[in-house]
Amino acid sequence: MSIEQDGFASRLAITRSILKNIAQEFSPAVFASSLAAEDMVLTDLILREKLNISIFSLETGRLHAETLGMLDKVKTTYGTEILLYKPEASAVDAYVAQHGLNAFYDSVEMRKECCRIRKVEPLNRALAGKKAWVTGQRRSQAATRTELAAQEDDVAHGMQKFNPLADWSEEDVWHYIRSNNVPYNPLHDRGYPSIGCEPCTRAIQPGEDVRAGRWWWENPESKECGLHVIDGKLVRINKPS
Ligand code: ADX
Ligand code: SF4
Repeated sequence: MSIEQDGFASRLAITRSILKNIAQEFSPAVFASSLAAEDMVLTDLILREKLNISIFSLETGRLHAETLGMLDKVKTTYGTEILLYKPEASAVDAYVAQHGLNAFYDSVEMRKECCRIRKVEPLNRALAGKKAWVTGQRRSQAATRTELAAQEDDVAHGMQKFNPLADWSEEDVWHYIRSNNVPYNPLHDRGYPSIGCEPCTRAIQPGEDVRAGRWWWENPESKECGLHVIDGKLVRINKPS
């Protein structure tokens, strides 16, 4: 069955309408972009339609050069600059002085503390005062995302959280990227289906799970960086329909 016969057009139409609704009804709304493939699909949909949703990235200080290169690609392709949120230098310095630059390999706790400083705290700043935020998460991406809904009540941040690609397959993502000439991180062509920080991401072998290269030394159940978990619990309070 071709992807079009398999309902891609209707998934795309639903995503477009979710984004339009966010822009109209939930202003100010922001989109958190990791600059990976899913997020480039959403970037393209938002910027081509000139939707009133601003785009930011958490620049952890440990991203690949190829990922940082996407910032310029977005600027040259769409004429828009992605807003960057960086960790507090004093918190990073204290962590490094106390535990070492790469202490995240030592334990899940040390890993989560690094993610807290480099991602979660900057995320909280990026979300302050907003009515909604948007992510590129998909249900089929991970063991932790099988229950993912397109709209969630993010009680912890006090706003709505939208995952407009919740229903999309990896094939859908690449179909959209190729048919619309969307720029993408070159690491995807080198065995990296999922891209996070450089020291915590590696290439996968054919047939391996798409997130097998993220925090590969940990169990699949702990592989969330805290952007989508609060106090150890996934933020999954779905809106009643
Ligand atoms: S993670 O939680 O394990 O890092 P993943 O890389 O799958 O997440 O990305 C899921 C979603 O989280 C992305 O689509 C994006 O919305 C958000 N996200 C992840 N990393 C970043 C980042 N560095 N900056 C902004 N948003 C991010
Ligand atoms: Fe730190 Fe790795 Fe988390 Fe990046 S992914 S914030 S380097 S632990």
